Amino acid sequence: MVAGGIQIQTMKIKTTIVLTLMAGSLVALAQTNSTFETTNVPETVPSGTNMAPAIPVLQIDAGKVTGNVSPTLYGLMTEEINFSYEGGLYGELIRNRTFKANAQGPVFWNAVGDTTIALDTNQPLNTALNVSLELDTSKASKNSLVGIANGGYWGIPVRPNTTYRASFYARGKHFSGPLTISVESTNGDKVFAKAIVPHISGKWEKYDVALATGNIETSKDNRLVISTTKPGSFFNKHGTVWFQNVSLFPPTCNSRMNGTRPDIMQLLADMQPKFLRFPGGNYVEGNTIAERFNWKETIGDVSQRPGHRSPWGYWSTDGFGLLEFLEWCEDLHMQPVLAVYAGFSLRQQHIAPGAQLEPYVQDALDEIEYVTGDANTRWGAQRVKAGHPAPFALNYIEIGNEDFFDRSRNYDARFAEFYDAIKAKYPNLQIIATTPVKSRVPDLLDEHYYRSQEDMQAHALDYDKYSRTNKTKIFVGEWATRVGSPTPNIAGALGDAAWMTGMERNSDIVVMSCYAPLFVNVSQIRGANRSMQWTTDLIGYDALTSYGSPAYYTQKMFSAMHGNEILATDSQNIPTREWQPRAFRGVTPPPQQIRQIFFDATRDSESGIIYLKVVNEAGTAQKINVQIKGAPTIEPDGEAVSLTADSPDDTNSLEQPQKIVPRPEIVENLSADFTREFSPYSITILKLRTK
Ligand code: AHR
Repeated sequence: MVAGGIQIQTMKIKTTIVLTLMAGSLVALAQTNSTFETTNVPETVPSGTNMAPAIPVLQIDAGKVTGNVSPTLYGLMTEEINFSYEGGLYGELIRNRTFKANAQGPVFWNAVGDTTIALDTNQPLNTALNVSLELDTSKASKNSLVGIANGGYWGIPVRPNTTYRASFYARGKHFSGPLTISVESTNGDKVFAKAIVPHISGKWEKYDVALATGNIETSKDNRLVISTTKPGSFFNKHGTVWFQNVSLFPPTCNSRMNGTRPDIMQLLADMQPKFLRFPGGNYVEGNTIAERFNWKETIGDVSQRPGHRSPWGYWSTDGFGLLEFLEWCEDLHMQPVLAVYAGFSLRQQHIAPGAQLEPYVQDALDEIEYVTGDANTRWGAQRVKAGHPAPFALNYIEIGNEDFFDRSRNYDARFAEFYDAIKAKYPNLQIIATTPVKSRVPDLLDEHYYRSQEDMQAHALDYDKYSRTNKTKIFVGEWATRVGSPTPNIAGALGDAAWMTGMERNSDIVVMSCYAPLFVNVSQIRGANRSMQWTTDLIGYDALTSYGSPAYYTQKMFSAMHGNEILATDSQNIPTREWQPRAFRGVTPPPQQIRQIFFDATRDSESGIIYLKVVNEAGTAQKINVQIKGAPTIEPDGEAVSLTADSPDDTNSLEQPQKIVPRPEIVENLSADFTREFSPYSITILKLRTK
């Protein structure tokens, strides 16, 4: 017993939890894989005690490697939410290009001039795009054009000296052109680029034009207009023209035809992600079976893709389909983590295991063949035909998403069917379950955590307690500290960083992790037709620019700066603060003491560099003593990178994208026993040279 009633055990700790009763609250004192002898010094110092504030001590045993950092620890998770692809990463600038967003009318389209526009189901381009936009040209004249206009996803970005590609399908009746295609300001005052299609045929045909801007100013309050001054043909002035798949693309990443936005791709590339989990999330399941991510309808020419309603309330053209996800992986050197539809949709529609599930299992096998098969396979040949001869390397398949929501409780049986069929044909594929199952031993289990900052910190040591003998590894496939909107603030980033030290320290079992959601279009975060469905998203953007949140920079720092070996650690005198967890099912739990300092240490076995990550969530600077044993030497000069803020609400935004960014610094006077002051609200990575 020591003063304050805290009992500390003196013993060799190996994944040990010491539970101490303190001031009526249960304080968990945990430290993993440690070889340190603990002393009669409390590891955490509860707030409000009269104990003399002892300096926190972080101890690293460089002579003891407790495991390896998984090379796939840091990745990305994505789905169509918050206008992630349409109005986000996908380069397409036209909103509702296929006119299928709303069967009642041509939403997001306007008539220009004295005319009317309407949806028409009698002139379909094909069975996939089975509605078209009808324009009455009869009132067009030399001085009074008529046309259709689209304002994009909260604007159409226009930049100087840039060439855009516009394309559309059209068919005329008593109308043979010409049509003028222009990008102009919303009020039509300024025309930035235009091109003419001289002749429109009476049959559906595709038309392509290049639209080149000159020395103009960058802007986004713009629209695409397709117009004419001709009312009709020579013999009949009452012309009509129908449109379908009206598209406008800016230059894309790696100049891909159906490609992605370079600024967002650059933000992602800087994170050095190792994998991409797609296409969901709820998006893989859909609200109903009919609205699932039906991959076979997302491949091939975009004009053959019917599109579908996403569970997040808006239409997806599926222009960003399976191949586009894979090319995104290719562009960023990530491996795909492919989630397949597993027979459960969000509104509790499900497919019974057995014969009814078989076609869905076959769909998954076909999907794997599309990704990995060569030209001699049925589905591999489809990918080759689509312009990607090389198969993609695939190691991970996830069966469904969050199947604990399935009230029929048949996931175990559904999982077994997918597992057996996939393993039989692709024995090397690692199979991920979305909730614990008993029927088979999954290679990985996908765990999801969305928490407050305090809750995240309270759970930051959880993986220290996980079984090391369990055959199933952990994939934290969705997680976030949900503080800050639309994107997380520094408080969110601090919760994240605390949690990430726990994942990294236990990366022998937590082999993959990815924050979610990844994206949010911040153009209209409230109201009807809003661009955000879920608050606290890693990266924000509008039509023109994008920015990373403090949590984004935390991800970037963690992903770019770690070694391959996990070193044993221990700590003393960690300050704490009291936190009242929220009531659950009417029961208010007792208040908890939560730590204010989190850390982990990894080492690069080649260079000998130790990466020490320290999170100080407190609003005061913390002098911390770092003790390192087992290293031949610690060079006096090192480096540090830190992310700090003045207040927990501080954040980045479109207006202030760089308010909180990592700052590098040279550090001096390092040794095997040094003391450093860590700023309030800070995340610091110290690079310590040992050779
Ligand atoms: O990330 C947002 C949603 O949270 C995902 O779609 C779903 O898997 C989870 O419930």
